[in-house]
Amino acid sequence: MYYVTRRYGFAASHRLHAPQLSAGENARLYGKCNNPYGHGHNYVVEVSVRGPADERTGRAVDIGVLDDLVRREVLAPFDHCNLNAEIGAFQGVVPTSENLAIEICRRLKGNWSAAFGVEWPRLHNIRIAETDRNIFEVKADEIE
Ligand code: NI
Repeated sequence: MYYVTRRYGFAASHRLHAPQLSAGENARLYGKCNNPYGHGHNYVVEVSVRGPADERTGRAVDIGVLDDLVRREVLAPFDHCNLNAEIGAFQGVVPTSENLAIEICRRLKGNWSAAFGVEWPRLHNIRIAETDRNIFEVKADEIE
């Protein structure tokens, strides 16, 4: 079994604000990330795939197919957008990088078999670096 990781990037803005909490609680909880006008990140997304090497090609994943899928489902909708305002999944869900990782994972899983077929490769892991020091990771098998 091989594990292959491909790195992508997009820029987006967000505001961390939980509507069920008071203004004071939001300010205390999220600090500057609760600023009303939002702020941006250059997100780095690493998509990891696992599978056996194909006998003919010697490759575990067709990177071109992965690129097309990630571009269509993640980069095109998210790049230069405001996550709170423009992404349906974040209506009522705070666009933390934890929730962003889950949303990216769901989008890729939901379109995975149409792109790659039923068996191999499989989506393994999503890792998002929001900054150099804040990195969030979800295992695809643990996400519904
Ligand atoms: Ni932020």
